[in-house]
Amino acid sequence: MAKIKSLDELKQLREQFKSKVDIREKGDNMEKLVQIRVAMATCGIASGAREVMNALVDIVANEKLDNVVISQTGCMGYCYAEPTIEVAIPGEEPVVFGEVTVERAKEIVEKYVKNGELLDGIIPVSHKTVDE
Ligand code: FES
Repeated sequence: MAKIKSLDELKQLREQFKSKVDIREKGDNMEKLVQIRVAMATCGIASGAREVMNALVDIVANEKLDNVVISQTGCMGYCYAEPTIEVAIPGEEPVVFGEVTVERAKEIVEKYVKNGELLDGIIPVSHKTVDE
């Protein structure tokens, strides 16, 4: 784990752990929540996924979006479009957004998560779920 160099970094770390605790507390209800997964493979982190993750945690906390859970995931196979986030709104197919910056993360929450408005930057999903 990297050293904490400022009060802001400590606060961000606190929010991340708080978010993880929230996931555990909300665990029984997950299918009713908006789930945002930030891809944190090496390529994602190198492209700024950590900053995007921190921004999302801040936005959700500041706006008190209690129906939104943020988590991290590993490789989703979209190196070319990192940072990527997957947003799963209950009752809808998950959507993957690519090249997400802190500003784009704010826009995605404001437009897609809160209002269901689709935005540019959606990556066509190239895999299928195995049903059998
Ligand atoms: S290593 Fe980059 S998406 Fe898998």
